[in-house]
Amino acid sequence: MSRDIQNEQATNTTFQQIGLFTRQPLSQLGKIAFWCFLIATIIGVAGVIALSFDGGSIDADIYAATLLVTTILIVSGLRWLQALGILGGVMLLYLYFTQPFVIESLERPKADPNGGFYHFTGQLVLFILIATGLVATIGTVLQNYHRIGRQTPRWFPFATSVIVGLVVGALYIGSLAPTAPVPTVAPLQTPKMSAGPGVPVALNMGMAHAPISVNQLQAPATTAHVDRFTLTAQATQLHLASGISMPAWTFNGTAPGPTLHVRQGDHVVVTLVNHLSFGVTIHWHGIRIANAADGVAGVTQDAVKPGQSYVYSFIVPDAGTYWYHSHQFSDVETTNGLFGMLIVDPAIPTIHADVDESVALHTWNGPNNQPLYTMNATDQTLSQAARPGQWVRLRIVNTAETPSGNPQLVTLVGTPFQVISLDGHDLNRPQWLTNTPLPIGSAQRYDLYFQMPASGPVALVTAADGQSYVPSPALVIGQGAMPTKLPAITKWFDLSTYGEPTADPITPQSHFDATYNITLGNQMGSSLGRMGMTYTLNGKVFPDTGMIMVKEGQIIKLHFVNQTSLYHPMHLHGHVFTILTAKGRPLTGSPVHQDTVLVPPHATYDVAFAANNPGIWMLHCHNFLHANWGMDMMVMYDVSTPYTVGSASGNFPD
Ligand code: C2O
Ligand code: CU
Repeated sequence: MSRDIQNEQATNTTFQQIGLFTRQPLSQLGKIAFWCFLIATIIGVAGVIALSFDGGSIDADIYAATLLVTTILIVSGLRWLQALGILGGVMLLYLYFTQPFVIESLERPKADPNGGFYHFTGQLVLFILIATGLVATIGTVLQNYHRIGRQTPRWFPFATSVIVGLVVGALYIGSLAPTAPVPTVAPLQTPKMSAGPGVPVALNMGMAHAPISVNQLQAPATTAHVDRFTLTAQATQLHLASGISMPAWTFNGTAPGPTLHVRQGDHVVVTLVNHLSFGVTIHWHGIRIANAADGVAGVTQDAVKPGQSYVYSFIVPDAGTYWYHSHQFSDVETTNGLFGMLIVDPAIPTIHADVDESVALHTWNGPNNQPLYTMNATDQTLSQAARPGQWVRLRIVNTAETPSGNPQLVTLVGTPFQVISLDGHDLNRPQWLTNTPLPIGSAQRYDLYFQMPASGPVALVTAADGQSYVPSPALVIGQGAMPTKLPAITKWFDLSTYGEPTADPITPQSHFDATYNITLGNQMGSSLGRMGMTYTLNGKVFPDTGMIMVKEGQIIKLHFVNQTSLYHPMHLHGHVFTILTAKGRPLTGSPVHQDTVLVPPHATYDVAFAANNPGIWMLHCHNFLHANWGMDMMVMYDVSTPYTVGSASGNFPD
């Protein structure tokens, strides 16, 4: 009989056999463990009682129950149960640190239910008790192990305790662990025109006795190469890389829809098939298109009804990066996925690119109505292969509603780059930029050009809030991982000083046949029968915003005055703006041509366009919310339309 066993017998007169089920009085350490857990249990039970008046807290119940069980395990005097007490203590610490108790109470000193000084102190006391109890329990178990007898192998009780403890602990923690959170994305609301006072019934946007109708303004018959596509609008469940699954409306089952790649001068024929339960159109954003194919519900066509189809037929006169989206309830339809990219290669190649990649930045209504950002179809990392030394053209479009009213910022990390075009229109002699933040308003495009560095990848990152770049979603081009350190936001790219001057058909010195002042405002008011924040052009909301009357051959100047503290990406269909002044200053760099001009808060912008494309053309803010709440008007040649906006037709462009 070993000395250990003799000692055991000296302290335990009742049991002679020392085994797994031998009870023995608590050692000093065991007593410390017991008292710590007992006091903590009393505090825990008191907490449960107090919280029960507030409807109770399942977390507190679990906490107190675990404390009680741990105390019983310790006092049992059975070795293997005491060993399980270690798991109880670890479990308590786990609960403690996964509940926001302490940190929250520090962060929010006065806030309930997890804030406040007393709460913090209480939690601290509990923590000390549990930590001490746990250490003492471990000590007790080690003592037990040391005092174990010969009747069973030394390792046996300890190993049994650990195995039983792990199984019980796994079952216990498993039953507590929240089932993998299923982020819930709100179901999509079918767009629908409200009826009633303030809602137009059948508003005709055309000139009643005009010599020509929008339907006659078709693409010319040419022998150009024909590109045919079919785009089917359909309801789709999107499954994102993060595991989020959400409802969307898409073209051909993806958002963005298929990228249509065509050549300058081509004749493009697209059949839109509508498998959705509401009307849809397609607007070809930025294309100087023949008016009949412009895709504006109630102006150039009726929205395509469920089950029906419609053919768009047009010539693409300019090369560059464009996109397409629904222009029926564009506010909800585009935001919920009805968009895609349209890339027009130049008839005569201008620059050499080994890799030509396009990225659509989109913002969705994600889980819990929080904005969810994607690049193409991913909310995580998009990869594009490229080898060191290769030249890359990267086309970026912002297809999103901009919830903050601020532009998204994007930049390229890993190599210097040039901005070679804006809204598809090339810049003259662009300089090299490094990490420069590029503000991109809704609907705007940037084409970047760069050479892959000798080693490492190049990444496109965004700062949707304008504050700091985020690691995802991101585009990683080439081999290697995303850089871990992202640059800070520095001075934004300024289109008014970028590149070098060159001759341009329209300059600030040109003769303008007419100048229109357009004041951008916002105020509480009513729009289409709803009360709320309205966005105004010259103090009016659509359809009371009036028209800009133009004649073919004129050069028209628009003077935008932004009286709001928001950015407004102002877009004109079927034409391209020449930027004359930005924030009141003439451009000192390259001439800039855009179809969507981002007017900063409390700033002015002067733009001009050649009126060379007859039709009825929308001029509106491309922040969909603003357009939906009033910020639209028409640029009008003497043209009539058979279509109407309003409750009778169900056409509502924005
Ligand atoms: Cu991109 Cu009127 O639209
Ligand atoms: Cu706006």
